[in-house]
Amino acid sequence: MNSDQRTCIVTGSASGIGAATVMALAAAGYDTFGIDLNGAGAQEVARQASQACPDTRHGATQSDVADEASLSRAFDAALLFLGTLDALVTSAGVVDTTPFMDITVAQFRRIHDVNVVGTWLCMREAVRRMPMGGVICAVASIAGLRGGGLSGTAAYAASKGGVIALAKNAARVLAAQGIRVNTVSPGAIDTPMIAQPLSNPAQRQRIEGLAAQQRIGRAEEIAPGIVYLLSPQASFTHGANLVIDGGIVMP
Ligand SMILES: NC(=O)c1ccc[n+]([C@@H]2O[C@H](COP(=O)([O-])OP(=O)(O)OC[C@H]3O[C@@H](n4cnc5c(N)ncnc54)[C@H](O)[C@@H]3O)[C@@H](O)[C@H]2O)c1
Repeated sequence: MNSDQRTCIVTGSASGIGAATVMALAAAGYDTFGIDLNGAGAQEVARQASQACPDTRHGATQSDVADEASLSRAFDAALLFLGTLDALVTSAGVVDTTPFMDITVAQFRRIHDVNVVGTWLCMREAVRRMPMGGVICAVASIAGLRGGGLSGTAAYAASKGGVIALAKNAARVLAAQGIRVNTVSPGAIDTPMIAQPLSNPAQRQRIEGLAAQQRIGRAEEIAPGIVYLLSPQASFTHGANLVIDGGIVMP
């Protein structure tokens, strides 16, 4: 590793936005370590990143971000692999499309366990391993700003609002330790997470129609925003929420 090569943990790295982020970070010269429930998928993305950018190193392991003990072991493995930890991207997340009146308490709790508790646990584990400071980017969603209305329903919208507030709190608290924290809020992005609603032509058309650009985005259109927020060029960007949605929210 040369002196200006940086290191990053990416959760949810097996698929979609997390996988695209690993590839974009590799192209930007980062070494990465992926953490995902789908360990084999995360290993495969790490292999692809190593192949595409042979000057960089990429590893991965299996863990549930909502399982405290397993996650702590995963962060230990990441630190062993990376040597030092400069950055964290939390992209692991789950959606729920159950109507407001039908969602069960167990479903509502699981969404919050992964999206909110899991994001906080990852931040905590990362900060414990960033004695010299660092940078964090959490993946939220415009659902957290507009109360859902794409494909996710109540639990998802509430959880992503929680991620945005959590990251703002982290930005307040962690600045003194030299840790920068921001979020990205994607709009509708063509990943396995929303494959089911997008497979319905009427639903797809409705979702496309929400955006000024009249289209759904690609994971590769979110990853550069994340890479920017992690970069020294974003040194004064702190507690911000970067909306990347083709013109739905326009906050
Ligand atoms: N796709 C969209 O339209 C969209 C829009 C806004 C925000 N987001 C957010 O972007 C993030 C990435 O979503 P995506 O679209 O890439 O979805 P995806 O389903 O393609 O990827 C999510 C990844 O997270 C992993 N994961 C799920 N639960 C986990 C857990 N408990 N522990 C560890 N890993 C877990 C999955 O295995 C998967 O690899 C999510 O937080 C999602 O809420 C997605």
